[in-house]
Amino acid sequence: MVSKLLLASFMLAVPQALAQDIPPIAVPETGVSVHPFDMSHVSLTPSRWADNQNRTLNYLKFIDVDRLLYNFRATHKLSTKGAKANGGWDAPNFPFRSHAQGHYLTAWTHCYATLRDSECLNRATYLVAELAKCQANNKAAGFGTGYLSGFPESEFDKLENGTLTNGNVPYYAVHKTMAGLLDAWRIIGDKKAMDVLLGMAGWVDSRTGKLSTTQMQKLMQTEFGGMNDILANIYQLTNDKRWLTTAQRFDHAAVFDPLAAKQDKLDGLHANTQVPKWIGAVREYKATSNKRYLDIARNAWDITVNSHSYAIGGNSQAEHFHAPNKISTYLTNDTAEQCNTYNMLKLTRDLFVLDPSTTSYFDFYERALINHILGGQNHASDHGHVTYFTPLNPGGKRGVGPAWGGGTWSTDYESFWCCQGTGVESNTKLMDSIYWFDDTSALYINLFTPSTLDWKDRGVKITQATEYPVNDTTTLTVTGKSGEWTMRIRIPSWTSGATLRINGKNADGVEVKPGTYASLTRSWKSGDTVAVQLPMKLRTVTANDNPSIAALAFGPAILSGNYGSSSLSKMPTIKLDSVKRKDSGKGGLVFEAIADGKTVELGPFYEAQGFAYNVYWGVSGQLPVVV
Ligand SMILES: *[C@@H]1O[C@H](CO)[C@@H](O)[C@H](O)[C@H]1NC(C)=O
Ligand SMILES: *[C@@H]1O[C@H](CO)[C@@H](O)[C@H](O)[C@H]1NC(C)=O
Ligand SMILES: *[C@@H]1O[C@H](CO)[C@@H](O)[C@H](O)[C@H]1NC(C)=O
Ligand SMILES: *[C@@H]1O[C@H](CO)[C@@H](O)[C@H](O)[C@H]1NC(C)=O
Repeated sequence: MVSKLLLASFMLAVPQALAQDIPPIAVPETGVSVHPFDMSHVSLTPSRWADNQNRTLNYLKFIDVDRLLYNFRATHKLSTKGAKANGGWDAPNFPFRSHAQGHYLTAWTHCYATLRDSECLNRATYLVAELAKCQANNKAAGFGTGYLSGFPESEFDKLENGTLTNGNVPYYAVHKTMAGLLDAWRIIGDKKAMDVLLGMAGWVDSRTGKLSTTQMQKLMQTEFGGMNDILANIYQLTNDKRWLTTAQRFDHAAVFDPLAAKQDKLDGLHANTQVPKWIGAVREYKATSNKRYLDIARNAWDITVNSHSYAIGGNSQAEHFHAPNKISTYLTNDTAEQCNTYNMLKLTRDLFVLDPSTTSYFDFYERALINHILGGQNHASDHGHVTYFTPLNPGGKRGVGPAWGGGTWSTDYESFWCCQGTGVESNTKLMDSIYWFDDTSALYINLFTPSTLDWKDRGVKITQATEYPVNDTTTLTVTGKSGEWTMRIRIPSWTSGATLRINGKNADGVEVKPGTYASLTRSWKSGDTVAVQLPMKLRTVTANDNPSIAALAFGPAILSGNYGSSSLSKMPTIKLDSVKRKDSGKGGLVFEAIADGKTVELGPFYEAQGFAYNVYWGVSGQLPVVV
């Protein structure tokens, strides 16, 4: 059922001039009972999260938009206006150049939605307007109506006639441009973005409509991003069945069939090629009510999270899935590609809204966001550059990119890898999953992040103050209109002994059970506070293929050892009974322990930057009960 509240909050999100162009959802979404708040109603308050956002926004407001347009303009036979070409994966001879721009576009729309930053708005609308000019010049450039890319359309001929040999993944790149345009349309109400997007969708339909099912299935042996996702989204916004038909042409049988039967056939597959298809499957479920799509997406999530994910929430080694339950077998310097986690987080959100009864979705979301994404950005760079892989080898170091990217953090103009695009976007939406509401207008608190929510439909503001995960307590303050409603708070499965205090008193009669949402229904008054305490303990996260290898965690935070500038030739063995807390609960999460006979300092992995670290250990003994 489409929530009226959802539509109402969309309408309030943007200035009047744009609001009329924000598309409401035209086709009801099957099974959805929970909704995120519009981004414009949630703000991060000062914290490490806001710092990450700020660094990325600095970069987004620095980068030269004409340089981002270079390949589009050159390909569509327009002047490049004296702009320099980019390097890395956006160089004019790189096969899938122009794949990153869609993420920058989305990131600017987020920046505008959350901060009302006119510089971000201007950049987004300028990019869209210039892309529209490229698309409008297709006749002169010799392309079909609606085509838009930074490489020529003949790449699609080659894809279809089986002669594509240069490593290009043309639909993958085109999907990202379409996703950016969709956000410019639905987040800032840019009508031009809608026109360009529908033009591209029409081009995809006319290209793929001519192919047989066999030809389509063959074409999908190349990475094609979330084509099913974007087209199903367009259907949901337009109620034009043509887009659903086109979306379903991208149902990849070789991947979907085993997943529908809950079979793990992921071994050897390129990981990030698959996750966008699963996101598309959930979207197709919401559009069609066909439960097979839901089974595919849920099974894919279960299999990936349980059998293929490292303690930090990331998956893949050398960009690929391996046999199930082989975590300790693949602890190398090219584990946990950051894009995969960006996509798994999207999938997690999309599944949560269909089943908010369990905390499994947001327990995973928190784990991957804190331990992978938060530390995947270089905190020493005021442009918030990102890492491609997150190495998990003994003595690994963040800032390891592919050799062709210099093997380091991304750069302003010489990287443009997939993980730079997704990394930029990730750090502009750190507020989008904290608060949710359902069709009965209950409020969900899913993440413990310093922030404010302006819940316009209720005339209520929520302020969340916390130093989580350094401190185990979060205080939620409710101000504004009085009224009865329910607050549902995620009690993570890793905690025990959690407590809720309302205005300083224990919330009697409220079930506070790990792995469930604690529900507080009451008549709220301005100034009410809820203190949520989630006691944290040291725990091990055992490798799924070897009980004597584990990572260490404290609450939600994975801890890593600091090895400074030394290199480790093998995995150290840690004496679990030697782990001690050094900060006596104040000013950080500092621990020390004995590993291979030497003292090593342990700290949160999200802060492990600029030195060699260790995440997985050989383990001996038992953890102390109290540290
Ligand atoms: C495939 O398409 C390319 C690009 O249009 C063209 O140059 C080539 O001749 C085609 N090859 C075949 C076998 O049709
Ligand atoms: C954002 O980053 C810039 C550049 O490093 C810095 O000058 C500014 O103070 C930061 N703003 C906030 C709110 O942290
Ligand atoms: C990663 O490890 C491989 C194999 O040990 C090595 O050849 C490569 O140089 C390493 N890459 C980086 C960036 O450290
Ligand atoms: C954690 O935060 C709570 C509430 O803000 C505060 O009372 C407590 O002193 C903090 N604990 C530590 C160890 O800093």
